[in-house]
This record gives sequence, structure tokens and C-alpha cells, in this order.
Amino acid sequence: MTAYGGFYEVCKPQRGEKVFVSAASGSVGSLVGQFAKFAGCYVVGCAGSNAKVYQHSSHYTTRHTIIRQLILAKRILSYVALRHHVEGFPSEEDFEVKTGRLSWRPESGEVLVRNLYLSMDPYQLNRMKRRSPSHVAVDGIVPGERITAYGAGEVVASACAEYKEGDVVAGLLGWEDYTLFRPSPGVLMSKLAAGSVDDNDLHLKHHLSALGTSGMTAYGGFYEVCKPQGGEKVFVSAASGSVGSLVGQFAKLAGCYVVGCASSNAKVDLLKNQLGFDDAFNYKEEPDMKSALKRYFPDGIDIYFDNIGGKTLEAALASMNTHGRVALCGAISEYTDAGHRASPDLLEVIYKRIAIRGFLSWDFLTRFSEFAGIISDWIRQGKVKPIEDVSNGLESVPSAFTALFLGLNIGKKLVKLA
Ligand SMILES: NC(=O)c1ccc[n+]([C@@H]2O[C@H](COP(=O)([O-])OP(=O)(O)OC[C@H]3O[C@@H](n4cnc5c(N)ncnc54)[C@H](OP(=O)(O)O)[C@@H]3O)[C@@H](O)[C@H]2O)c1
Repeated sequence: MTAYGGFYEVCKPQRGEKVFVSAASGSVGSLVGQFAKFAGCYVVGCAGSNAKVYQHSSHYTTRHTIIRQLILAKRILSYVALRHHVEGFPSEEDFEVKTGRLSWRPESGEVLVRNLYLSMDPYQLNRMKRRSPSHVAVDGIVPGERITAYGAGEVVASACAEYKEGDVVAGLLGWEDYTLFRPSPGVLMSKLAAGSVDDNDLHLKHHLSALGTSGMTAYGGFYEVCKPQGGEKVFVSAASGSVGSLVGQFAKLAGCYVVGCASSNAKVDLLKNQLGFDDAFNYKEEPDMKSALKRYFPDGIDIYFDNIGGKTLEAALASMNTHGRVALCGAISEYTDAGHRASPDLLEVIYKRIAIRGFLSWDFLTRFSEFAGIISDWIRQGKVKPIEDVSNGLESVPSAFTALFLGLNIGKKLVKLA
């Protein structure tokens, strides 16, 4: 505003006039110089180092750069923050949308991304607690501060040769409209193929669901942890969710018999009639989970892919076959209630020689592209259907996130920003 008003309104430039700008590499000066070029003037700037002189000489050239600088000059960032730590069920009142300042500079080595989609993930609730065993692997969230989260967006400014304006990326961004990141091997970020934003068969949303961490979790957890054999009986909980809906479809592709549970009849219908599960049931209508599982698996369960923990895990163990495998992917029913913990019958585990293994999606990071390649082929061939559930606008993040704990989502919960 200072640069624009000061130059156009105060100086009233005419094409061909000679303009001198001091502090020309600074915030106001760098814009004034570019505006002067845009107005058809001859412009000379002075700055305090040769690096600044060199850096900014190239910036006085294109209209595109001027527009980019104008966008960045706003330097206002909107982000979702916690008002306080969350120990039980999350509610929308636990969050607020805040604004902050953002400063990208051409010499910073950083990349500025305009976020397009944000991922809603249950594990974030454990980050929101004052203390959680999950903090050994993932940092806790500090109230009032930005919340890092998986997302996808478009590069709008880059001070790093690896990325250029217009690149579409997916990786660790944040619950905010713009994210700055500094590329390094430790930063999870991948560049997506051109055209990912188009409404084609590998739409950008899929890169946050089946081709993102949900796909890596489902593929690694099912194939690497459960090691399925054709004909085995598989039980999946939270089966209509992001990870569960993929695991069930992968189990069918592996020649298994698969049953899922979910919290509504509409979800059960989706599992049986659209995603190819052999059977599914509404666990809210089953007062006794143990007898329900005995009914759905009269010959026992070989593989249990556990997304919810608690009583369902205890019941599944009671129906497991000898040498069964349990993949502990998540325990969402325990995230909201510290007093609600599964207490498995260990004699069941010992005498049936059941293998129970917890895992994190990151365990498979080195094989991310291999898994994504396989899953994208399956999507193209119509063998796997990614399911996404999209809310709109940054202000919808609190309701979209809390929906995960109320069972209101079907498939991968995302928030679309742009
Ligand atoms: N190990 C890893 O690296 C990793 C990675 C990703 C996800 N996870 C875990 O995997 C699980 C699924 O994650 P997601 O991203 O795919 O989420 P999601 O399944 O898409 O959404 C969460 C679902 O959990 C179910 N749920 C919520 N509260 C519940 C409760 N108290 N009891 C029973 N079910 C409940 C709801 O489905 P219903 O309507 O069926 O109840 C809800 O739709 C979570 O536990 C998550 O933490 C682990």
C-alpha cells in the first residue's frame, strides 16, 4: 500500500521518467522499483550489498514477478490454532482462526505454497493433548501456534531451484492458507505430476487419500504387517474411513474374505454395495461385539486390521484363529477417553500364537513411491475406489476435524481451500 500509494499517487510517474529508489532491496523499495518499471520508467536503486544489487536487478523485469511480489507483500496468513490443549472429545470451540504475518524473501531459500487441500487426521488429537505417548514420535501442538498437517498446494514463490512457481506439491504443510517451507531431506514433500489439479482420474484429492499417507498406511499395514494369504478371513474396523476403506479393497484384491464394521447403515451399504466387502455390519446395532464377530466369522478371523482399539480389539482377539495377525493401526476410540483402554486376554494371544504389531505409516516411507505406483494403477484400472469427503474453507477445519470423532465422515476427510 505504501509503495503503490507513494509511487503512483504521490510521484505521479510518466512513462520514460527517471526514478531513483533508496533502500531499494527492502520491502517498500523493492516494490517501488518494480512499479516504476511497470509504469515504463527508467529506474535505479541503491542497496547496502552487491548481493542485493544483483538479486533485485533481475526483479525489475517481468510483470509476473511484480504480481507475485504484490501477493507476497500482503504477508497476512490465516491459520487454525488451538485455544488450549484438548484432553477428551474435541469440539469446534477448542479452535480459532488466527492471522499472522508471513515473510518470504527471494534470498530466504524457502518455498511459499498456497494451500489447496488440507488433510484431517485422527492422530492430530493426540498431538493436541498436554501429554500423550504419541509425542515420542510426533511433536505436541502448542496452543495459539500453527498446526502442521499433511496437505497439497501450489508453489507461488520459490527461492530454491528444486521448486518453481506453479509446481503442485503434497506433503507436510499446515492448517493455514499459505505455508512456507525450507526444502531438506527431512521435510516430507513431493512434487506431483503436471495436471494433478485437473479433474482427472488421479485428482489432487487422491494424493491426500489413496495416493497419500492413508494409502501408505493401508498398503504397508495390510501387506507388510498382516502378510495376507488368499482365502484368509479379514476383519476391518472403521471400515468406511480413509484407511479402512482401502484396506478392505486391498483384502479383496488379495483374494481374502473381508468383513468391515462401521457406525451407520449408509456406511454398511457403501462397504457391501460399492467397495466389494463380502459383508459388513453396523456396530452400533450390536450390543455384544464378541457374539457379533462369532456370527460374522464362524470359522474365525485370520487378520484383524484395527483402527479403533478398545472393546472391539478385545472382541476380535477372542475370535482370532491360531497364528492370526493383528495390525494395530490406530485406537481412535481411546483417543477421546483416557479411561477407555483395551485389556486383551493375554492367554488368548499366547495360546493362539497371535502376532500383534503396531506400526506407523512412516515405517514405509522409503517405499512410498512404490506403493503409490501400485495403488494408482489399481485406481486407473477401476480396482480400487478412493473415497473422499470434502468440506470447504479454512473456517470449516474445526468442524471437519471433530467430524472424525463423531463418525460423520465417509472416506478421507479433507478441507478444500482455494
Ligand atoms: N499407524 C499409522 O501410521 C496411522 C496412519 C493413519 C491413520 N491411523 C489411524 O487409523 C485410524 C483411521 O484413520 P483414518 O485417517 O482412516 O480416519 P477415518 O477412519 O477416515 O475416520 C475416523 C473414523 O473412526 C471411527 N470412529 C471415530 N470414533 C470412534 C469410536 N469412538 N469408536 C469406534 N469408531 C470410531 C468413525 O467411523 P465409524 O463411523 O465407523 O465409527 C470415523 O469415521 C485412526 O485410528 C488413525 O489414528 C494410523
